[in-house]
Amino acid sequence: MIISPSLLACDFLNIETELNCFKDFKDTWFHLDIMDSHFVPNLTFGHPIVKLISQKTKIPLDAHFMVSNPEFFIDTFKDYNIHNFTFHIESTENALELVKKAKKIYPSVGISLKPKTPLSDITDEILKELDLILIMSVEPGFGGQSFIEDSYERVKYFNKFKSKFPKLMIQVDGGVSNNNAQKLRDSGADNLVAGSYIFKDGPLTYKDKIESLRR
Ligand code: DX5
Ligand code: ZN
Repeated sequence: MIISPSLLACDFLNIETELNCFKDFKDTWFHLDIMDSHFVPNLTFGHPIVKLISQKTKIPLDAHFMVSNPEFFIDTFKDYNIHNFTFHIESTENALELVKKAKKIYPSVGISLKPKTPLSDITDEILKELDLILIMSVEPGFGGQSFIEDSYERVKYFNKFKSKFPKLMIQVDGGVSNNNAQKLRDSGADNLVAGSYIFKDGPLTYKDKIESLRR
């Protein structure tokens, strides 16, 4: 089980200190929410920040592109040691082509679906090429939203494809906490993204919060 703390919720004024808190953590990725204020209403961070983060940590970087033109970003983010590149199925008409293109650069490539996007938009042909499917359990754009309960069924749907496509990792993003982590794991999730739960809520340490999502 991989846990991906979403840096959108971290203390941006002390980002290096935040990154160092996770030093030597195993099976942990840093989730980077890159938004363009076009595909989603919010605008987050881009090249300079991602570049600096990549220079300050050895933890694998998991970039979630909520942008209207993902193809452009495949090329322009290639020098920042990104481990996983995820784009949205709703942002392109050439998903298969884009996955193939991104796979030439990034070790892992994912596609994300918004909560209302039909699951059948991800064809077998696409699944065969994919390393990761990202089920959004909130509408993309903002941290701190409530988890959408339908998401368990969406995870279960893709879990059925694992016998056919064994390398497929199922990631869930949005409103993830210790209240839903176990049910998500039982439904087939292998990778949980958590922003607010890790960085904002409660007295537990980052390590304890990550462990609480795994248990
Ligand atoms: C939302 C982002 C998420 C967000 C999750 O569009 O994709 O990664 O940071 O934040 P929480 O865990 O607070 O819902
Ligand atoms: Zn995200």
